[in-house]
Amino acid sequence: MKKLLKILGIVFGLLVLAIAATAAWVGLTDTPTYETKSLEIQLPTDSLSLVNGAKIARTVCAYCHQGESGKLDGKLFSPESEGFGEIWSGNLTNHPTAGLGKYKDGEIAYLLRTGIKRDGKLAGPFMFFPNLSDEDMADVIAFLRSDAPEVQPADDVRSSRYSFLAKALIKFGAFQPLDYEGKPLLAPPTTDQVAFGRYLATTRYDCAGCHSASFETNNIMEPEKSPGYLAGGNPIADHDFNHVPSRNITPHPEQGIGKWTKEQFVASVRSGIRPDGTALSTAMPRFVLQDEEEIDAIWAYLQTVSSMETTIATAGK
Ligand code: HEC
Ligand code: HEC
Repeated sequence: MKKLLKILGIVFGLLVLAIAATAAWVGLTDTPTYETKSLEIQLPTDSLSLVNGAKIARTVCAYCHQGESGKLDGKLFSPESEGFGEIWSGNLTNHPTAGLGKYKDGEIAYLLRTGIKRDGKLAGPFMFFPNLSDEDMADVIAFLRSDAPEVQPADDVRSSRYSFLAKALIKFGAFQPLDYEGKPLLAPPTTDQVAFGRYLATTRYDCAGCHSASFETNNIMEPEKSPGYLAGGNPIADHDFNHVPSRNITPHPEQGIGKWTKEQFVASVRSGIRPDGTALSTAMPRFVLQDEEEIDAIWAYLQTVSSMETTIATAGK
């Protein structure tokens, strides 16, 4: 009996030691550094491509990177209370040191594909664009390099500080960079309306990322395989970091947009006005720069997806 207690004591002691050592390793050592690359990339110079790049950057990148000055000089993306530490989105202006002046075009491309920054660190699990077409990506980077007001040099430098939890998730591989596959990525032609709409909804504007059950269970590479695909419920932080569940945008007749008219859909997506006249939360971006062709294609695509009921994620607050 005494011997058993002694053995148990030793086992317990070793366990405590192992936990303490693991905690020290997570908390005190740096997060991993991954291999960085600069991809081969040709930036377009024609005006149509720049207009496309501006539209995507002003919609998608601006949602997370637009500071109070109106420039893409970064903002508080996730405060301490969210659990991941204090996460600031980066400064994307043309400042030589504080902004993207230090990045090669191909390094920006590699970051967008994999989540690996120029310094080899992971940009959290917050920013992945593995399926964005090569053309859209080059157009966005061309916009970042342009003389547009949003990317005029700003010298803000605010570094993210990852919490113990976020560091643990990175170190144990729950938050990981994506593999770079290197295959050419082409968007479907606009004439193939449903396929083009799918591209917009799953990739260019990633409606699906926010509108499926949870960021934690989303399938980034194959969005349709995400649980609760387009059926909403994912808690999204608004401008004040309150969480608002995304809505069901499948053709479900009660929970979704099955009974909506196209005009009601357009008003929601463009101006953030619901069919009952109330305003949507700031958690939902406003797609004001998108032309009719794009909104029509998204609408056409949404008519084709499976109707599904919403499951509310439990992870939200
Ligand atoms: C969902 C929010 C979100 C969106 C959308 C987003 N980003 Fe980010 N981005 C972040 C966060 C957060 C960081 C910083 C992460 C960190 O510090 O670890 C970041 C970092 C970066 C960096 C690295 C900056 C540096 O200092 O190394 C670049 C470049 C970048 N983003 C470009 C873009 C571009 C281009 C787009 C649009 C195609 C975009 N981002 C869209 C959240 C976002
Ligand atoms: C950053 C996350 C995010 C993205 C990206 C996003 N949405 Fe939303 N969306 C939301 C949230 C959150 C709500 C709920 C807002 C509320 O209830 O006030 C919402 C609401 C809506 C609504 C209103 C539904 C209703 O029942 O009232 C529609 C329609 C909609 N989104 C369509 C889209 C489409 C189409 C796209 C892509 C072009 C898109 N959303 C992209 C977060 C997002």
